[in-house]
Amino acid sequence: MRHLLDTQTLAREEALRILDVAEDMADTQRREVKKLPTLRGKTVVNLFFEDSTRTRISFEAAAKRLSADVINFSAKGSSVSKGESLQDTAQTLQAMGADAVVIRHGASGAPRTLATSGWITAGVVNAGDGTHEHPTQALLDAFTIRKRTFGDDSRGRDLDGLRVTIVGDILHSRVARSNVWLLASLGAQVTLVAPPTLVPHDVSAWPARVVYDLDEAIAEGCDALMMLRIQLERMHAAYFPTEREYSRRWGLDATRLAALGTGSMVMHPGPMNRGLEISADAADSPRSTVLEQVSNGVSVRMAVLYLLLAGMDEKENVQ
Ligand code: NCD
Repeated sequence: MRHLLDTQTLAREEALRILDVAEDMADTQRREVKKLPTLRGKTVVNLFFEDSTRTRISFEAAAKRLSADVINFSAKGSSVSKGESLQDTAQTLQAMGADAVVIRHGASGAPRTLATSGWITAGVVNAGDGTHEHPTQALLDAFTIRKRTFGDDSRGRDLDGLRVTIVGDILHSRVARSNVWLLASLGAQVTLVAPPTLVPHDVSAWPARVVYDLDEAIAEGCDALMMLRIQLERMHAAYFPTEREYSRRWGLDATRLAALGTGSMVMHPGPMNRGLEISADAADSPRSTVLEQVSNGVSVRMAVLYLLLAGMDEKENVQ
């Protein structure tokens, strides 16, 4: 694997390979000494043009646990705020010897530009670009669903026949886009639930069906119910009357949680707007996978960095 830019073009076999290597990584993270020597001497740059807490820290933990050197570069306080272009920034990183660049950018397509520009030779990992994609989030979500469903028997399995319902601000969500492509390619059936104003115009081309009523979707049942954050920072118009109204119709509260089959897990990529799209009862219930998603994120990102930097045929190095 040279870069990880999206899940839309990620082959099913490659996705399964990442999930299986992530299983190996998760095993190593249960040991007392969590650090592996695998990427010693490699340099990973976290290039973040948009705010992030968990994704940046997760990539940093993943790189450090593989013994890579990590350079954190955030656009605030850097020359980017003085108008330096992506090209100049990239070439500076190249001159410093970056082996992998993990990039989060407000513009959809920025990671692809970086990967195909010829400005750098490093592998590029998309850590979220505009409203386009966030592939490692989808991979950690798929990993979490697989682990909760199949436990120690997860390796090698896809998500064939599992039903995943994604609820909320689909329009602005790169997490939803990456999940739809990946989950469908792994065999899951995806249902999207949102107010009509928050459904993207091109949704008919996605491998998912759309329903507008959350109670109807909950009554149908699912294996995983994924709640999305309302992305107020990306909303430049009124997409719903009031937050209270949104919460009443599309929020996961205690009543809806009780109506959800006991076999359904509740997911959220974070950060959560507690009381808006998800109530505290739902977020903190034993069915919630929120914290598992965070810890699985480190294993999945270790797998991605490993496959990018150590080569596809050196799996035996993970011991
Ligand atoms: C997501 C993102 O940034 O796209 N968060 C994350 O990566 N932890 C989802 C969100 O911001 O709602």
